[in-house]
Amino acid sequence: MRRIAIFISGEGSNALKMLDEYSSSQTIDVALVYSSKHNLKVQNACKEKGVEFHFLSWNLKTQEDILGLCIKKDISWIVLAGFLKLIPESFIDSFPNKIVNIHPALLPKFGGKGMYGMHVHEAVIAAKSSESGVSIHFVNGAYDEGQIIAQFKVGLEPNETPETLSLKIRTLEHLYFSETVVQLVQGNL
Ligand code: GRF
Repeated sequence: MRRIAIFISGEGSNALKMLDEYSSSQTIDVALVYSSKHNLKVQNACKEKGVEFHFLSWNLKTQEDILGLCIKKDISWIVLAGFLKLIPESFIDSFPNKIVNIHPALLPKFGGKGMYGMHVHEAVIAAKSSESGVSIHFVNGAYDEGQIIAQFKVGLEPNETPETLSLKIRTLEHLYFSETVVQLVQGNL
């Protein structure tokens, strides 16, 4: 069993999907969920599944506390599922190539600071792209620049809006993210 931590800052729909899928997994044990924002839905799901949940705002002190917690709980992989804060180098150094992020576009395009949520989909449409998708990548010290592990694509319709694209992308994420993490921790990617 690989013990993972999931970090979130938003709605947490990917985290909920993972909590659900991994509760019967032979490969992955979710040992903790950390949220940088209040999230009652994910907190309740954790409670129901007996997973430790922490809500703390993200600052220098709490970064150290969370890092300490990950080490203490023998976490081997950290999954950023909609986590909007920059992970400091000191944190990354403790988990080299063991922190994974999901980005709602086909990197290396449409990434970087400020490229999150609807901003990404608006930029994809403004660029008249014929496709978009999700990128699952390792985390380094710069937003969305770590090595890409897997990408999944979806086509854009001529009348596509940021809202319709966001739904398509969320569907792709829920379809592929949790299984990609399983393949990754098993060493298949
Ligand atoms: C996803 O679109 C992900 O690609 C991005 O943040 C969003 C998180 O969604 N990094 P949710 O909080 O899992 O619903």
